[in-house]
Amino acid sequence: MAVRIGSRNTPVPFEWHDAATWKAALDGMRAAYLCYSPDLAFPGVPELMGRFAGAAADAGVQRLVLLSGRGEDGARAAEDAVRACGLEWTVLRCSWFAQNFSEHFLLGPVRRGRLLLPGDGAVAEPFLDLDDFADVASDALTGESHVGQVLELTGPRLLTLREVAR
Ligand SMILES: NC(=O)c1ccc[n+]([C@@H]2O[C@H](COP(=O)([O-])OP(=O)(O)OC[C@H]3O[C@@H](n4cnc5c(N)ncnc54)[C@H](OP(=O)(O)O)[C@@H]3O)[C@@H](O)[C@H]2O)c1
Repeated sequence: MAVRIGSRNTPVPFEWHDAATWKAALDGMRAAYLCYSPDLAFPGVPELMGRFAGAAADAGVQRLVLLSGRGEDGARAAEDAVRACGLEWTVLRCSWFAQNFSEHFLLGPVRRGRLLLPGDGAVAEPFLDLDDFADVASDALTGESHVGQVLELTGPRLLTLREVAR
């Protein structure tokens, strides 16, 4: 199965805010996995998702799989835009990724020994391992059992922010 990665630094560059890059990124693809950065809840993103879904349909894409945030009410309008696109769709609503601490924006604070997080430390989150998420995302892209579903994905247990910091 042919896979094309699309971001600002890939051989076929893809930029969310430059629609001229979309066609080449979508060309020949049957399904697309959508990860909007920095945040699906930002103003204008639902409209952007609607335009992108239209471009995907024009390019012959049959299915969209959208990464979204669990408990993020602000992301719902962007989810709705993808769900209304007329293509097959799956929404993957994820809790916080464990890899935020080891590969992403919290790695620097971890290394410096000081984590500033919302809440009083007793707040708990079912952190999700990205390898587990990738299994579900690839099923959604290639299988038939998740079409038309919103899946709430979490890790297997709650960890308080204090436990995570420790
Ligand atoms: N992190 C979490 O715990 C978490 C949990 C649930 C949901 N989410 C959702 O995941 C989404 C992304 O968040 P993230 O922090 O995990 O990912 P991220 O690392 O911020 O972004 C993922 C990729 O997007 C590419 N990218 C960034 N800006 C782009 C642009 N303008 N056009 C094209 N590609 C772009 C980047 O590659 P290049 O630099 O090569 O372009 C990057 O590798 C958000 O919608 C967020 O709500 C995150």
